[in-house]
Amino acid sequence: MRKSLTVVFLSLPVLCFLSSQLLWPETAAQEKSTVKQTVAAKATVPSAAAPEGMALPEYNDQGALLRPVGFERWMVVGTSIGLNYSDGKVKNPDDPGQFHNVYMQPQAFDNYVRTGEFPEQTVFVVTNNPSTSTKGKDSLNRTGFFAAPSTGLEVAVRDTKRFPDGWAYFMYHDTEHKPADDTPSAKMRPVETAYPRAACYDCHAEHGAVDNVFTQFYSVLSNAREQHVAEHRLE
Ligand code: HEC
Repeated sequence: MRKSLTVVFLSLPVLCFLSSQLLWPETAAQEKSTVKQTVAAKATVPSAAAPEGMALPEYNDQGALLRPVGFERWMVVGTSIGLNYSDGKVKNPDDPGQFHNVYMQPQAFDNYVRTGEFPEQTVFVVTNNPSTSTKGKDSLNRTGFFAAPSTGLEVAVRDTKRFPDGWAYFMYHDTEHKPADDTPSAKMRPVETAYPRAACYDCHAEHGAVDNVFTQFYSVLSNAREQHVAEHRLE
């Protein structure tokens, strides 16, 4: 008797859950979308203050972001080649696409590994390096590609005080380009204003694994965090 009662009590929540899924599937869908919204909204919640000694983003008098300098000494947390945001491009075996090297301040890295959060004033810099082949040249290497010098930077800054969305996105092209806001373009622009939400933010908020950031592609970062969590038996 006791045993069967226990079974009933134990199965009750399970049954309730299953029937709620069957009877109100839209509730389950709503719950899912609430979770997603919470994740997206997290970007606007202030995180820890910038750790001491961290290189901070710099702005001009009009509030435009100065092109980051000295990031070559930061940490490279991920590298990708030919990641395309659209599938319109024809695949060319002699051109696998651009290398992207993703840098972040070492102090922001440490903070993320310890807490799972990107502190205020975290900066990510992505260099855009065309891939170069050694094929056909009088070269030691017979196959493969290496990264030519960078032709531009993509930059993300986390700052909930300065940017209402929490993160802002910038691009610094080294070649002539037509900026999103139709202002005259120039080579090597030393300052840039943030892109509109739809151009950058929305894709990051929807697809970036942690707080707008594509940590799913940054194994150096995610492995260090996982190891920290395992060593300290954190959730
Ligand atoms: C359709 C999706 C999409 C859009 C739109 C997009 N990105 Fe990204 N972004 C990515 C992906 C995927 C990565 C992963 C790394 C890579 O591309 O090499 C990334 C990585 C980044 C990073 C490194 C930090 C991070 O958040 O992971 C920066 C900085 C960045 N993008 C800037 C920009 C800027 C600036 C724009 C707008 C001009 C932009 N992105 C638009 C998909 C997008």
